[in-house]
Amino acid sequence: MRLHSFLLLLLLTAWAWALDGEEGGEEEEEEQEEEEAKAPEETTPGPPSDELLEEDNILVLTQHNFDRALREHRYLLVEFYAPWCGHCRSLAPEYAKAASLLKNESSELKLAKVDGPAEMKLVEEFGVNGYPALKFFRDGDRSQPVEFTGPREAEGIVRWLKRRLGPAATQLETEAETTQLIDSQDIVIIGFFKDLQDEDTAGFLATAEDAVDLTFGFTDRPELFQKYGLSQDTVVLFKKFDEGRADYPVDEELGLDQADLSRFLIIHSMHLVTEFNSKTSSKIFRAKILNHLLLFINQTLTPHKELLADFQEAARPFRGEVLFVVVDVAGENDHVLQYFGMNATDAPALRFINIETTKKYLPTTGEITAASVTTFCQDILSGKVKPHLRSQEIPADWDQKPVKVLVGKNFEQVAFDESKNVFVKFYAPWCTHCKEMAQTWEDLAEKYKDHEDIIIAELDSTANELEAFTVRGFPTLKYFPAGPGRKVIEYKSARDLETFSKFLDNGGVLPEPEEPEIPVPVLENSELLN
Ligand SMILES: *[C@@H]1O[C@H](CO)[C@@H](O)[C@H](O)[C@H]1NC(C)=O
Ligand SMILES: *[C@@H]1O[C@H](CO)[C@@H](O)[C@H](O)[C@H]1NC(C)=O
Ligand SMILES: *[C@@H]1O[C@H](CO)[C@@H](O)[C@H](O)[C@H]1NC(C)=O
Repeated sequence: MRLHSFLLLLLLTAWAWALDGEEGGEEEEEEQEEEEAKAPEETTPGPPSDELLEEDNILVLTQHNFDRALREHRYLLVEFYAPWCGHCRSLAPEYAKAASLLKNESSELKLAKVDGPAEMKLVEEFGVNGYPALKFFRDGDRSQPVEFTGPREAEGIVRWLKRRLGPAATQLETEAETTQLIDSQDIVIIGFFKDLQDEDTAGFLATAEDAVDLTFGFTDRPELFQKYGLSQDTVVLFKKFDEGRADYPVDEELGLDQADLSRFLIIHSMHLVTEFNSKTSSKIFRAKILNHLLLFINQTLTPHKELLADFQEAARPFRGEVLFVVVDVAGENDHVLQYFGMNATDAPALRFINIETTKKYLPTTGEITAASVTTFCQDILSGKVKPHLRSQEIPADWDQKPVKVLVGKNFEQVAFDESKNVFVKFYAPWCTHCKEMAQTWEDLAEKYKDHEDIIIAELDSTANELEAFTVRGFPTLKYFPAGPGRKVIEYKSARDLETFSKFLDNGGVLPEPEEPEIPVPVLENSELLN
């Protein structure tokens, strides 16, 4: 049950939150919420020595030996950590593994760590404002460290470092070198630039430095332009699937836009149709394509598999706009079915979701052909189809107990009743913070059950979707005051009977706080994905 809930959570939050990370963040930055840097505890400085000590192949640095480490190692990756930081603890084994993977490489490259709270001078000098922070130093220069942007696991750290040490892209001189590079990987990106000294080439190489999972080459050879049918500066993505190749011509006036190029590379390195599984899911969400079209099939059934050709055919014109995903109901995908309120016998079926709004759409026909899939997508994109909102049936006894039970179907009518003040708890059955406050909510309802104009209610947000807004964290508490105008007040204070009562007695506001507000815990995706 726990595992099941976890998967559902993961998916729910992945689909709901995929876009809340940082722009252009390579890896799931949102997973790596940093912990705030705290003031140092008192330390008794040891005798100033610049001796370099190691733990697990990692240099242990202080303000006294930092310079020496920079002198002795041309490339130095430094982790600033704090003993109390949980993210640092989970990074530690990966960091140690990366250090051991790099042990046999040249001694020019070394991993190091700094206990931030004990070394506040370094923390201040390098502007560390959260733990863990990883900074990369080169050529003994301590004035301009580069922020580590790679994946925070051993292999990813190694790949990121190697990309920075070696050339980010291979310079190609001959046809043979070029075809060899293209053949070497499923996806290879080659920049064709007439002038390798210009800014566009520099922008291309900078993009390559960050995209550590892809292979890059570049060239200025006219015969190579000719061989690949190019007349102007172009970045070409060669792939061993789908269209085989995608061209990104560099705008001659505006020049190469790195963010735009990165997006192009992400979109075109995805398959036209991606099969959903635990390995591809992060890629699916990281592609930052807002619309997903899901085809649910049972892969063991031939008639189902035959639908794939049509699905694939329909996908092409929507590349970059709608991500086409296949979900095998005979695989380990029950959590996906549940998220969409379906079961395996519904397959074959299509569902469309916008991962930003989490609005879902259902086709009006059961027929699945290239033409019907195309029409379905076009109708949603042009706003012709209304989103489908899940709702449970209204329970017969919904208003019999002190806490009223709301579902999608009676929410509007009850919450926006102009003669009532309605206080609603939006919860998920598996959410621990919700369970913790359940009794208090009952007590509150009991206390106000004789107030004609006050309604205490709850709604299971995993089974009921609303047109008015999307509930993203659990529990969410909202107050709908009586009167016109569909007002909604979000309640973010303490979840105890006394504070709730003050809030209600005061008509939906809290009296001036005597103490600074204490943030209340809400279960959100950043915790879940950890
Ligand atoms: C490093 O080299 C040693 C011997 O030179 C070898 O035994 C060891 O397996 C190598 N380690 C890695 C991670 O390649
Ligand atoms: C998929 O189809 C097979 C028949 O080939 C069936 O036995 C199986 O139960 C189906 N799986 C699901 C989850 O419905
Ligand atoms: C699956 O859902 C359909 C309706 O969509 C329902 O009729 C059927 O009973 C459900 N089957 C199971 C096994 O839950």
